[in-house]
Amino acid sequence: IILCSTACLARPYDPQKVEQVLNTAHALYKDTNAGANADYIPALAKVDSSLFAIAIVTADGQVFTQGDIDATFSIQSISKVFTLALAMEQQGSEAIVDKIGVNATGLPFNSVAAIELNQDRSVNPLVNAGAMATVSLLEGDKTQQKWQSIATWYDQFAGRELAVMNEVYQSESATNGHNLAIAELLKSYDRFYGDVDMNLDIYTRQCSVGVTTKDLAMMASVLANGGTHPVTGEALMTAENVQRVLAVMATAGLYETSGDWAFQVGLPAKSGVGGGIIAVMPGKFAIAAFSPKLDEAGNSVRAQRAIDYIADKANANVF
Ligand code: DON
Repeated sequence: IILCSTACLARPYDPQKVEQVLNTAHALYKDTNAGANADYIPALAKVDSSLFAIAIVTADGQVFTQGDIDATFSIQSISKVFTLALAMEQQGSEAIVDKIGVNATGLPFNSVAAIELNQDRSVNPLVNAGAMATVSLLEGDKTQQKWQSIATWYDQFAGRELAVMNEVYQSESATNGHNLAIAELLKSYDRFYGDVDMNLDIYTRQCSVGVTTKDLAMMASVLANGGTHPVTGEALMTAENVQRVLAVMATAGLYETSGDWAFQVGLPAKSGVGGGIIAVMPGKFAIAAFSPKLDEAGNSVRAQRAIDYIADKANANVF
């Protein structure tokens, strides 16, 4: 099946064909066994690695789902996209360039070497260093106040109330030494903008937010629709900020394999070590996929394959 001869999924399209493409993607990759659950966060090692789900939300608010669509998993690094969006809306995009940076590291998401090698130190908002520094930039000087603004923001993107997965949060908090070291290092370079412990705690909570694959596609659909939620109609971001967030996703969303991804798939995307990935075809649709087993860079193997397959069938490539 080919869905459209040019990038499609904004009407007109045949919803039955979309269902069929999702079905085929799921059937093709459900037995792919490559990769392994993240195990540096103990709670993630325990997640059922057979889980596999795919969802699409179009820029006109149509929803398509396939697989283990009720499974809730932690959003992890995909949260970085939405916190970046909030920081940009609050502080303006120049603050992100000046205080965080927007270049790719070419190195793993928790690399200390990247901080030492790069003048910007935090490097970009989608690696751990830059993401923690982005949290530190947000308005609010009390944990509860800052956390509430992030939680409410995520809920607006999801179109429903999300909750922190307490077991993941506890597990991650108990094994957070590496992130603490990164945050302290940034602070020593004046590239962290508030209390280290408080902002690290908020970052850890944001990574532990529980989502379904449909929630992720819904959240990403705001980026596919120029900043307005296609289902709730709420205007959440300016169109300019959407473009800038997508640009950072395109260069750094899959860490050191972002170049391979751009070359192969051609859609701005973001992964998380919980096994989720979002990808955005601007003006058309968002795809989310989830399966826990990750490749060496920390990107879900099945989710990458499913999104690659669907993007190809929908003729979707921003380049
Ligand atoms: O801080 C961490 O290491 C995790 N909470 C998130 C890392 C992550 O998801 C990287 N993604 N592929």
